Amino acid sequence: MKQYRALLLGDVIGEDGIKYLLSVLPSLVDHYRPDLICLNAENASGGFGLTALDAKTLLDAGIDCLTSGNHIWEKKGIAELLEAEPRLLRPHNYPAGAPGRGVYCLEKAGAQWAVLNLQGREGMTPLDSPFAVADRLLADLPADSLKVLDFHAESFEEKEALGLYLDGRVSVVAGTHTHIATADERILPQGTGYLGDLGMCGPLDSVIGSDTTLCLQRCLTQMPIKLEPAHGDCRLSGALFVIGQDGRCQAIERISYWQPDPASFA
Ligand SMILES: [Fe+2]
Repeated sequence: MKQYRALLLGDVIGEDGIKYLLSVLPSLVDHYRPDLICLNAENASGGFGLTALDAKTLLDAGIDCLTSGNHIWEKKGIAELLEAEPRLLRPHNYPAGAPGRGVYCLEKAGAQWAVLNLQGREGMTPLDSPFAVADRLLADLPADSLKVLDFHAESFEEKEALGLYLDGRVSVVAGTHTHIATADERILPQGTGYLGDLGMCGPLDSVIGSDTTLCLQRCLTQMPIKLEPAHGDCRLSGALFVIGQDGRCQAIERISYWQPDPASFA
């Protein structure tokens, strides 16, 4: 039976994160042979938001779909970019009237894929229910498409709950947003591959990707100090999901790579 391989990468952070990701990506593709590559890009440009130029750089590098979350709105021109670029998603459960969409359908490697993007509400802005919006989204998608969801959420309770709610109806539910890769991957009873958080592609010497000094000042003084991405050596985090023709996930391999030399990957 044919298998399909979806490579999902955690939030890419700042220019050093992008640079490192682009340097590792060819080795990663050689090694894992993904049919589909998705990346959360809401922190790509200066740590907050995404510019058209960075979106183009990432898509031109071979990433099939960019997902996002609560920080996607922070760069000028994002509304126009979301409307013009179908490969860039924002969480689908923003209320009606928000620009863009949270679903991208494509044909790749002989399969129909649908990449979905939703956002959690626990500890975050109270958007429309990701559960109800997922129901509506799935009702409009072909039953035999391979569905991969980036659930951008803070709460692991909400992440697991949505994973189990969608079990058997999507191939993958992978969390983003915390920038901390979790080791809770499992195949749910009805065949959905679940991972609580993909982690980040960003600077190692940092506080979840942000400059340590600025973050500590903010923690110590409780002043609203503007954070910036850290610089230096990076880690790339994500996971490969192997999916059968029936849409059931068969295997999950977490990926965490932090060697400065991408050529030593594998
Ligand atoms: Fe986020």
